[in-house]
Amino acid sequence: MQRAVAIVLAAGLSTACGTGPDTSATPGAPAASGAITRTAFGTTPEGAAVESFTLRNAGGIEIRVISLGGIITHLTTPDRTGAMADIVLGFDTLEGYLDEHPYFGAIIGRYGNRIGRARFSIDGVEYPLAANNGPNHLHGGIKGFDKVVWDAATSEEAGRSSVTFTRTSPDGEEGYPGHLRTSVTYTLTDENALVIEYEATTDKATHVNLTHHSYFNLAGHNAGDILGHELTIDADRYTPVDDTLIPTGELAPVEGSPFDFRESTAIGARIDTGNPQLTYGLGYDHNWVLNGTGFRRAAFVVEPTSGRTLTVETTEPGLQFYSGNFLDGTLTGKGGAMYAHRAGFCLETQHFPDSPNKPSFPSTLVQPGETYRTRTVYTFGVQR
Ligand code: GLA
Repeated sequence: MQRAVAIVLAAGLSTACGTGPDTSATPGAPAASGAITRTAFGTTPEGAAVESFTLRNAGGIEIRVISLGGIITHLTTPDRTGAMADIVLGFDTLEGYLDEHPYFGAIIGRYGNRIGRARFSIDGVEYPLAANNGPNHLHGGIKGFDKVVWDAATSEEAGRSSVTFTRTSPDGEEGYPGHLRTSVTYTLTDENALVIEYEATTDKATHVNLTHHSYFNLAGHNAGDILGHELTIDADRYTPVDDTLIPTGELAPVEGSPFDFRESTAIGARIDTGNPQLTYGLGYDHNWVLNGTGFRRAAFVVEPTSGRTLTVETTEPGLQFYSGNFLDGTLTGKGGAMYAHRAGFCLETQHFPDSPNKPSFPSTLVQPGETYRTRTVYTFGVQR
């Protein structure tokens, strides 16, 4: 296949697809590292049951994920003193996720990011897609992978626990050709890593670009804005955009611009400098061209007050850094938190936006008989 999606699987890290037993812990009993708790989370208006899965590791990290959209609803990690905080934005109940929201914590597909003028052509056939972001198509359309209920299976071993979400997207769903059989596995390890493995196969040539859309605030989901977080992105270039956030096609050097995060820099240091690209995005909402190929580091973040760190590694060629510019305080989140402007940031590993219409970009085309496979790892740490 044409995509550079070489997958590096550590020993024993093959995709976990086994149907694990229901291991719901006795209420009140402390759950062991590696054990998964599975509970009901509500029912959609269409009558589909949504479940919640809680993964825990030896370091005390706890991740909760639901079968609606594969959404990570909670992610609790220690700070440098050992104090725990939930570091992702989200809602307390299913209703929050069923209402309009900006893709909190979700699997994004079939195509993470924008496709210009909401269409692409394969072998001379044009496929119109929903224009759900001005003239463009965003994050898979009106009912993307973030809004569907997935089948779920769990797998537990010493030192790691996994939930695998699977679903076949029907031919023509949201305008895309081909039945797309998709699986996304979240694994929490005792190395404090959240491993996300994406796989898809199709019966017709189609475009695929799966990603994950957690909004992080390493000081805590309700701790205010993320402008003091210090960010490193391992990229010498980025893809400048037009005023509808579609790449121009240029791979521009970051050198001498507010897009240069090769040295650790506070997110807020240059965000309001009037750079035209930052005006288009209302802040950072751009794709960086990651250096190197294969599985490698993409970004590193440290939040100086808590000491919490986040390392992002991926097989993908690009990284969308979004600084939460469209958050405006109108969403009430977990525990009544008000998510104001720039209350969280996203680091979305991906192929570049609008690749189906940009022959010079790495291809997102997947053919029948090929397996789309990418892997991203978010590792949580502390700096003392
Ligand atoms: C992505 C996009 C942003 C915005 C958010 C959701 O990160 O690039 O422009 O749409 O999702 O609000």
